[in-house]
Amino acid sequence: MNFPAIRMRRMRRDAFSRALMREHTLLPTDLIMVAFVIEGEGEGKREPVPSMPGVERLSIDGLLALAGECVEWGIPALALFPSPGPAVKSEDAAEAWNPQGLMQRATRALKAKYPQLGLIGDVALDPYTTHGQDGLIDENGYVMNEPTVEALIKMSLAQAEAGMDFVAPSDMMDGRIGAIREALENAGHIHTRILAYSAKYASAFYGPFRDAVGSAANLGKGNKHTYQMDVGNSDEALREVELDIAEGADAVMVKPGLPYLDVLRRVKDAFGVPTFVYQVSGEYAMLKAAAQNGWLDERAVVLESLTAFKRAGADAILTYYALDAARWLRE
Ligand code: PBG
Repeated sequence: MNFPAIRMRRMRRDAFSRALMREHTLLPTDLIMVAFVIEGEGEGKREPVPSMPGVERLSIDGLLALAGECVEWGIPALALFPSPGPAVKSEDAAEAWNPQGLMQRATRALKAKYPQLGLIGDVALDPYTTHGQDGLIDENGYVMNEPTVEALIKMSLAQAEAGMDFVAPSDMMDGRIGAIREALENAGHIHTRILAYSAKYASAFYGPFRDAVGSAANLGKGNKHTYQMDVGNSDEALREVELDIAEGADAVMVKPGLPYLDVLRRVKDAFGVPTFVYQVSGEYAMLKAAAQNGWLDERAVVLESLTAFKRAGADAILTYYALDAARWLRE
């Protein structure tokens, strides 16, 4: 049967039938707000991130206010990244597991005030290393796998101890999910979830983030190609995800987002596990810059991009636009 018996436009004619046939709908409960925390509690310190207009790094007091907004607008969780400043950076990144460190203090403060808001803690050494790599390096600058995993275990335990709901290793070391899972179990943290950055690409879209956590200058001309994935691969992403699931990940992630929708779809189809996607800093910067120039309708392109993630199989989306999007969705 064909035209005119089939007229695809019939269902598109009116808002009611478009609504009825809509396959995927974006909700505030799909969104995870991303935030950067800095020192300066009690001073209400806020530092704009120049390459991410509209995003500010917040001291813990400001972070609490942001968390309150997330709760108000129905956003289920906050992903937390530390920007601890140059003073605490070291070769061994030991500040990352200091019980009184920035992440741990922020976690305790947030969980005390908003216990219902899920907290996702970044687990990687880059904000804490003098060289800006996600792990510990040898004399040639190569990121060493097992010593780094040992450090990530300490970092995960410190976060779990402080009340973190999800530890989220974003480092791409081999075997870290299994090692962290075992350490958490042994320490009695049986409810701490692991969000594995499983298919994390060596992407140039992370540039603004590296400004925000203060690792860009330290990294200099360095790159992360020996641990993050090659942009040209997607079979490899499935192997990474499969390993992380086997090692005990509760949810997996594809990152960046929009340029990797094909990977997202493959992962969701192959495994059917909770699959998150990260709309990264460079994606935010692109949309924001075009909007500020009056070249794109910000609200429309943001909601379109976020809906595309759901269509491609995402269960949840980490995005700097979470609060804006939640507000726009309610209007
Ligand atoms: C590093 C980390 C990065 C991001 C999250 N965790 C950057 C990197 O790998 O260099 C990027 C997030 C973004 O760009 O928004 N552990």
